[in-house]
Amino acid sequence: MSYNVLLIGSGGREHALAWGIASSEKLNRLYTAPGNPGTAELGENAVLDVSDHSAVKDFIEEHHIDLTVVGPEQPLVEGLVDKLEAEGHKVFGPRQQAAMLEGSKEFAKEFMQRHNIPTAAYKAFDQEDFDAAADYIKENNSYPIVLKADGLAGGKGVFIPENEEEAMSFLKELKNSSSLREASSRLVIEEFMTGEEASVFAVCDGESYQVIGNAQDHKRAGEGDTGLNTGGMGAYSPAPVVTKEILEAVEKNIIAPTVNGMKEEGNPYVGFLYCGLMITEEGPKVVEYNCRFGDPECQVIIPRLESDLLEIIVSCLNGNLRETEVELDELYRCCVVLTSGGYPGSYEKGKEIKGLEKAELDTLVFHAGTRSEGTKLLTNGGRVLNVVGSGKTLQAAIDNAYEAIRKIDFDKAYYRGDIGAKGLKHLG
Ligand code: AMP
Ligand code: GLY
Repeated sequence: MSYNVLLIGSGGREHALAWGIASSEKLNRLYTAPGNPGTAELGENAVLDVSDHSAVKDFIEEHHIDLTVVGPEQPLVEGLVDKLEAEGHKVFGPRQQAAMLEGSKEFAKEFMQRHNIPTAAYKAFDQEDFDAAADYIKENNSYPIVLKADGLAGGKGVFIPENEEEAMSFLKELKNSSSLREASSRLVIEEFMTGEEASVFAVCDGESYQVIGNAQDHKRAGEGDTGLNTGGMGAYSPAPVVTKEILEAVEKNIIAPTVNGMKEEGNPYVGFLYCGLMITEEGPKVVEYNCRFGDPECQVIIPRLESDLLEIIVSCLNGNLRETEVELDELYRCCVVLTSGGYPGSYEKGKEIKGLEKAELDTLVFHAGTRSEGTKLLTNGGRVLNVVGSGKTLQAAIDNAYEAIRKIDFDKAYYRGDIGAKGLKHLG
């Protein structure tokens, strides 16, 4: 059978997923909603407001879509999967209640506690109880300490104060910020974990899982992991910090009990599961779960996939992932994100992008914040393009990505020069 697929999303992650799906012999037609100029080359972009779940349902019915793949967290946490399933449609992604693993930090923490999944010790407080939270921090008197808004906050809900004064001023900010308060009717206070961060990804069919690679991303805007947090400035895969032993521990102590625990609780997990980890001296611990693929981690893992992505997704929807091959190649991939100058703060849009064809001669380039106007390609967001180098060594993959990114230009373009350097340190 061949499938008509609707992919939801418009970032670099979705261009990478579209690229993987488009390479499948099982694909009939691919639509991406709303998509970007990169996904438009692989199928058709659908003009669709994806927050309007009824409009998505109508599109599926009009275009004879056989299955829908949801890229970003927002529609998952808002229950798009539940809505479409209730209408008899097949959707790859967790239902609303399962997406709570990302949608509520407290839900995730309580779940990990019930299933003995290693993570930082924590205590949760109600929004009204900021005084109790302040007392707890003062009594605990150990810094740094980690303060998190409970709900989705677009990466802006975590604060790591180094002392009491900083902690108290964050609590005040939380109290007074309506946008953060929306995300944080609850506040989670966590022990600070020391170690190196990495991510391991799994695909899940509700009953079983298979690992689909690991990666390390670079969240800060500045070199040497300095400056503001961003959606991600680059990533590479595989991450040498995730040794065979670490991966075994992640599967045994984290992924398997997560998938089994969700199933036991009548909340089976179907979709990509992103385990954000701290590799501590006591072994890997969960920093956070995300209910979707990482961005830009997806851009370095999907190109490594030797198995058929669409076949993997179909097997998850049919509950027979166990019999399906999920194999990655042995090469390294390094993704450097080209951003608009000023991101993650304010930046200008509409700058003409030049040199993309030259870069594409020897690398993969995934679009994110771009827009086409006639024959021109213009910037249209903070993260603009994802340049993915490959090589037999991590160094070769890094060099390949940087050689290509230097060929692309637009006014005030910015990228970090040290993507992958963390990984090279491990390789000596
Ligand atoms: P989160 O949104 O939960 O992923 O947190 C954002 C970032 O804050 C993570 O990528 C870590 O760098 C850091 N972080 C979160 N929780 C902890 C923790 N318990 N210990 C140390 N760092 C943390
Ligand atoms: N790269 C981090 C994320 O996707 O959340």
